[in-house]
Amino acid sequence: MTYTSHIPVIAIDGPSASGKGTVAQHVARQLGYHYLDSGALYRLVALAARHVNMSWQNAGALATMALELDIRFVDDRIMLNGQDVSEEVRSEEIGKGASEVAVHPEVRAALLDLQHSFRKPPGLVADGRDMATVVFPDAATKIFLTATAEVRAERRYKQLMEKGKHANLRDILHDLQLRDARDSQRTAAPLQQSADAILLETSQLSIEEAVKFIIEAAGQQHAH
Ligand code: C5P
Repeated sequence: MTYTSHIPVIAIDGPSASGKGTVAQHVARQLGYHYLDSGALYRLVALAARHVNMSWQNAGALATMALELDIRFVDDRIMLNGQDVSEEVRSEEIGKGASEVAVHPEVRAALLDLQHSFRKPPGLVADGRDMATVVFPDAATKIFLTATAEVRAERRYKQLMEKGKHANLRDILHDLQLRDARDSQRTAAPLQQSADAILLETSQLSIEEAVKFIIEAAGQQHAH
């Protein structure tokens, strides 16, 4: 391990729209930890490719480009090569692109150093699909946060409605199931619960309850 291995990491993995982003950000804020939204990195690769008409299938070109991207998280804004792309990067289309570019091992490898660079004192909350299995296998706390596909689709639907966007619940559920299948069935770092992760099923839990659970779990790890 590197010289950062003493810095605690809370790895939170799980499927799309499980609410892990919101939960992870709350945990980070409450503990005063840094926060890594690893999904945003795959989204940024997909978006940057779209900007230059590069195919989401072109693993080599995507990986080379990923190494050169100027990515900055400033407060709650996401900057790509100096441009605020916070809204653009969250679209369903770019989410789909993210799951396509994320299939390529070359792209995943190109994003590794960048992800590791988020591990800074006093600690990191890392949110993604392979945080506990690949990126931070030595994380002190590993959580697999999920909810049923139906509950996740409803959460995504509500989010879109709140933003005043047109949405159809059945289409959202269908897209989510496709994304789940692609994320779990790929060969490179598939979405799967790490053997040493704690399963947190949030279908019946509020955000506050999920946050409390994770902070307590992290506290217990520290006590050992
Ligand atoms: O979490 P989010 O919806 O932003 O992630 C977008 C896509 O990026 C996911 O569907 C997944 O394919 C990919 N991803 C990944 N590994 C991560 C985070 C996201 O493959 N650690």
